Amino acid sequence: MVLLIGAISAACLLGAYLTYVWLAKRRPERVETPAVPPLKAATLTPPTARPEPAAPLPARTEVPEEPAPERKPAPGSPAGPVAVATHPLHAALARRIQADDLRMPILMKSAGAVLANCSDPNCDAARLSAQIEIDQALTGHILRIANSAAYAPEEPVTSLGLAVMRLGFDTVKEVAVMVTMKERVLRAKGLEKRVSELWRHSAIAAGFAREIAKAVRGIDPGTASICGLLHDMGKPVLLQACLDLQKGRERRAEPAIVDACIDEFHTQVGGTLVRRWGLAEEVAAAVAGHHVHELAEGAPPLVCVTQLADALAKWADEPGCDPSEAPVDHPAVEALGLTRQEVDAVLIQTPRILKAAEAYG
Ligand SMILES: [Fe+2]
Ligand SMILES: [Fe+2]
Repeated sequence: MVLLIGAISAACLLGAYLTYVWLAKRRPERVETPAVPPLKAATLTPPTARPEPAAPLPARTEVPEEPAPERKPAPGSPAGPVAVATHPLHAALARRIQADDLRMPILMKSAGAVLANCSDPNCDAARLSAQIEIDQALTGHILRIANSAAYAPEEPVTSLGLAVMRLGFDTVKEVAVMVTMKERVLRAKGLEKRVSELWRHSAIAAGFAREIAKAVRGIDPGTASICGLLHDMGKPVLLQACLDLQKGRERRAEPAIVDACIDEFHTQVGGTLVRRWGLAEEVAAAVAGHHVHELAEGAPPLVCVTQLADALAKWADEPGCDPSEAPVDHPAVEALGLTRQEVDAVLIQTPRILKAAEAYG
């Protein structure tokens, strides 16, 4: 009996063991799930309000000749950095800039001569007037501005010599650059409103740049105002290029894409334009550097003046122009070592600067 019970127990144990082995063989193997890599910080970073300064463009051969098919952004969505960077218009503009194939307006001969004469310490009003009167458009502008409310003449100024003396060499130089800008740069057809806003912004920035420069030792106010005038001149050049590139195309880039491309490239193109016109390298550097985010210690003062003038021009041209919102804590204020009193002395000139910008219009 004991032997029988022992045999039954042994059989049960053997059966249980065989069942376990069979089940173990049928169990599916565990699949190892690959670790999910962490998201790159760049993909999480929201687009910044101001674009980074234009990075050096890739070599021409790196830009594909046939851009990727156009992807239409969702209606009403802002153009994000990725949408802009991959857009065919961006690639086409980058190619043209890289190949030096943008239509750059040429400085008017008369304007070039006026700039050269104004920089000559031996030049007087009579010689400068003789140079100006060769150009009817320039003569007309100088007389008109000398008679405008901004200069409030007691008697109408009818002679060019008197107009030159009333305005001063710095303003005459400014007007010569303005006339070239109007005649040759700000002529994008169909975009007149935009161009006129840009013109007004430039004229206001020129006024502020001149006033800021008066408070900074070693900066010529006349040169500073030319920087203010020209700081955004890459924009109309690029606007024209966008029009040319999209001419005859059924589907055009969204305005947000066009704006983002212009924002990205305008400092580089503006700097090139200024160098082509033969203006001083410090002016080209100020134009090219007017959106550099961080003003490193020892940044050229003219770059700081242009940045501050740009910020003040944006503030002053806002409807209502609230004095409490003036950009008095702009990094350029500290970089230039301006005191609060000096900044206030610039701000107090705002109504006069706005009036002068209207006279230039
Ligand atoms: Fe700008
Ligand atoms: Fe600007």
